[in-house]
Amino acid sequence: MPTYDNDHVLGFHLNRQTPSIVKAEGVYLYDDKGNRIIDASGGAIVCSIGHGVREIVDVAAEQMKKVAYVFRRAFQSPELEAAAGKVCEATKGDMDRVFFVSGGSEATETAVKLARKYHIDNGNPSKFRVISRWQSYHGATMGALSWSGFTSRRAEFTPYLNDFVHLPPAYCYRCWYGKSPETCDLACAQALENEILCLGPETVSAYIAEPVSGHALGAAFPPDEHFKRIRQICDRYDVLMILDEVMNGVGRTGKWFAYQYHGVVPDIIALAKGLSAGYYPVGAAVVRAKIYDTIAAHSGIFGSGHTYGGNPVAAAVVCRVIDYLKEHNLVERCAAMGDYLAMKLETLKSHPTVGDVRGKGLQRGIEFVKDKATRAALDPQIHFSQQIQDEALRRGVHIESSFGCDRGQAGDMIIFGPPFIITEEQIDDLMGIIDETLTVVEKRAGF
Ligand SMILES: Cc1ncc(COP(=O)(O)O)c(C=O)c1O
Repeated sequence: MPTYDNDHVLGFHLNRQTPSIVKAEGVYLYDDKGNRIIDASGGAIVCSIGHGVREIVDVAAEQMKKVAYVFRRAFQSPELEAAAGKVCEATKGDMDRVFFVSGGSEATETAVKLARKYHIDNGNPSKFRVISRWQSYHGATMGALSWSGFTSRRAEFTPYLNDFVHLPPAYCYRCWYGKSPETCDLACAQALENEILCLGPETVSAYIAEPVSGHALGAAFPPDEHFKRIRQICDRYDVLMILDEVMNGVGRTGKWFAYQYHGVVPDIIALAKGLSAGYYPVGAAVVRAKIYDTIAAHSGIFGSGHTYGGNPVAAAVVCRVIDYLKEHNLVERCAAMGDYLAMKLETLKSHPTVGDVRGKGLQRGIEFVKDKATRAALDPQIHFSQQIQDEALRRGVHIESSFGCDRGQAGDMIIFGPPFIITEEQIDDLMGIIDETLTVVEKRAGF
């Protein structure tokens, strides 16, 4: 067994060394050996405003000096009210109330619980089922993993998962129906109605999906009108529409919220990641007024939450991050830099393995294939995308790799999610390294 510097950490990789980061600034990470790394994935698509923004740190420190912690069940805080107000304002009034938690998995779990609570208080206690999609990701806790359709992340824990229904993904590059967006009549959205009818509408509580997919499908964007059809079906059967914007939300896709691309308003959105831009663990379930009003008018209690949810330090950080995004026009900048990144990604299509490039704003992905004409996936044994991640890191770029977009069994991807402050020059540097990395890994794989 190799011995590493970190002899007592039980991390993600048990048998390999990962760099120890000692400083972070802007789009760069610095390790303890003095290497500079471009954070092209913003951690796990988290760090939107960039690393080392002093004023966010100061706000957190000041809040800790004032009040570091109070428990939400017993106390309110001005910071919590202010943060909730800022989140709702960013939705332009579509959403009305915010329940803060400490991360993305908690956010989707809370969203599902709020949907259930709404139905109980609305006189429909038989509604409990959640319908989601294959190749989706909603978190690693047992509930969130149950409605996630990320095959590889579910596999070892399946015995603990609830048996929820998963629909085919909204994924035109590999349409499960073998159709094209021009002629499909949104078969992947229509599947929801069939499923609700088969299960019995009186049992179905909520539908959950990512507006722009994350790791499981490498930033795939659904066909036009997909979510409008989903909205109609949800309304027809009193099924709540939950959009998981844990990765998309708070600017990442070039709009404040990705649902704004789809011309619909969901009933609940789940947020995390960009909500604090990585400066503090926080998440939220954000609901429309009708959900709050129904619960308030009946039981008047939402008996859920974790110890650290809604703490004032998290709230103070959320307030400052939202203000910072606005003061520096960073959501608009994300859209503009996203267009530039997209243009550069197109040029990578000259590589034999680059099958598809996709995404919105600064959430972009590449799907690699063995054969562009047939779209056949690469042999999973090659671990192609992991090789890209490793080789890119050796050259000074952190990029997140992912696997499983081809029905969970194959399909290599990488996901870009740099801080919104990235410049065109930094994108050029980054893409130069990715280009070089691809050439090396492709050669090794026999292309
Ligand atoms: C879309 C989506 N939902 C939920 C989660 C889970 O969030 P967390 O890891 O903060 O629990 C993630 C994490 O990557 C995500 O991308």
